[in-house]
Amino acid sequence: MARPSPNATAAPRLIDLHPAPADLRALVLQGMDRQPRQLPAWLLYDAEGSRLFEAICDQPEYSLTRTEVELLQTRGTAIATAISNAISDTTATAQRQPAPVVLEFGAGNARKASPLLGALAPPAYVALDISRSALEATCTTLQAAHPGTDVLGVCCDYGAARGLPPIPALAGRRRLGFYPGSSIGNFEPHQACALLGQFRRLLGPTGLLLIGVDQPKAVERLEAAYNDRAGVSAAFARNLLVRLNRDLQGNFEPEAFDYQAHWQADHSRIAMALVSRQNQTVQLAGRRWVFQAGEALITEYSVKYDPAAFLALARAAGWRPLQRWSDDRGDLSLHLLAQAESP
Ligand code: AVJ
Repeated sequence: MARPSPNATAAPRLIDLHPAPADLRALVLQGMDRQPRQLPAWLLYDAEGSRLFEAICDQPEYSLTRTEVELLQTRGTAIATAISNAISDTTATAQRQPAPVVLEFGAGNARKASPLLGALAPPAYVALDISRSALEATCTTLQAAHPGTDVLGVCCDYGAARGLPPIPALAGRRRLGFYPGSSIGNFEPHQACALLGQFRRLLGPTGLLLIGVDQPKAVERLEAAYNDRAGVSAAFARNLLVRLNRDLQGNFEPEAFDYQAHWQADHSRIAMALVSRQNQTVQLAGRRWVFQAGEALITEYSVKYDPAAFLALARAAGWRPLQRWSDDRGDLSLHLLAQAESP
């Protein structure tokens, strides 16, 4: 009789904490009343938006994902060594400590987690995400590729959760948070700081954080990355209007808006917006909204941090830097952080 593999009998594949669904209508009404109008970036990621984002990552102009995956692949051993050193430095025993468990914030995609799991071979990997289907997809792929690691999904709102449920795979182990993709850039700095503080609480006093942060670079490259020739970035933004039409009984005409992505140097960010081509009235969520010709609806910001600026933010959130890895062009950094108050 075949013996079950260790993972077949381990913790359940998915723990659903049933996060409260966001009040979409309230969020959209609030954003539409802002000046300029601006909606939360996560609204871009319905099923079609997630598919389009994956397609953006394959565009020649958008090198962020490729650069980060390559960094994780080529520096994996150095990253694993730095993590194991950080752990040995803070424990009394001279013995080699076991690898920490990895907690990824967002189900992300297997593309980024896989090289990290390959390098660290952690006992467990836990993905936290509000989307159950995204968790199922990522966890299934990762478990097949990393049979020696216990892969688990926790369906929750990691930005708001007070703590994690008692998960056997996490008990008594140090935690390494993983937040790749420069997702932190979608938040404005005060929100980003709050999120980094939230990670600190979820990872505990001995927790470490490995975070990918995209950096400022030539304006032409930045603007091209967010306005690719194939038009995938534009389709990604316009899909927000399609989603609003469906979910909030809207009548946006996506083609009545131009997509624009501009570098705002004073904020060190790309601002992405849909700009009304003409004066028009739109119905949405039971209300009427007037757009003047040229009026913008901001779909997202992508803030870029040079290492010093990012570390200032991280310090303000209670983290201290341990080590940093960057590609040859200096496009992106992977920062390894420990809690400022850790022993
Ligand atoms: C997922 C927030 C990192 O800002 O580069 C890419 C999102 N939007 N192209 C980014 C995005 C349009 C992306 N992040």
